[in-house]
Amino acid sequence: MKKELIRAALKARENSYAPYSHYQVGAAVLTDQGEIVTGCNVENASYGACCCAERTAVFKAVSQGKTSFQAIAVAGGAQGRAPEDFAWPCGICRQVLHEFAGGKGMTVIVAKSQEEFVEYPLGELLPHGFGGDSVL
Ligand code: THU
Repeated sequence: MKKELIRAALKARENSYAPYSHYQVGAAVLTDQGEIVTGCNVENASYGACCCAERTAVFKAVSQGKTSFQAIAVAGGAQGRAPEDFAWPCGICRQVLHEFAGGKGMTVIVAKSQEEFVEYPLGELLPHGFGGDSVL
C-alpha cells in the first residue's frame, strides 16, 4: 500500500502547475477507508495564491466527504527530473494534515521513488499541533 501511495503521488506530480518555481510536487492521501486521493501544487501569478500539493490532495478529499487520513505520500523536485531530494511538507501543510489525522494518527511518507523514501508520524514533524479541542 505504501508503494501504491507513492506511485500515486509521483503520477499526480505530472500534473503539477508550477510555471513560476519550476518545482513540481505530487501528493497522495490514504483515507481511513483505504481510498487514495491525489493532488499537485498549483501556482499562480499572484504568488500568495499558490497551493501546495498536500493541501490540494487534502482539500479534494474533504470536498468528497473524506475527512480522516492514515497516511500521505509526497514527492517533489525540479521540473522535468525525477525527485533528487526529499520534499518535506511545509509548515502550513503540516497544520492542515493535523486537522485531518485519522484515529491512529497519520504517517507522512516523503519519497524520491517507490524504492527510496522516509516515513515519520505526523506528530514528529508537528509536535504540539493546534487542534480543534483547543477552540471547541
Ligand atoms: N510546495 C508544495 O507543493 N508542498 C510543500 O510542502 C512545499 C512547497 C510547492 C509550492 C510551490 O508551488 C513550489 O512547491 C515551490 O515552493
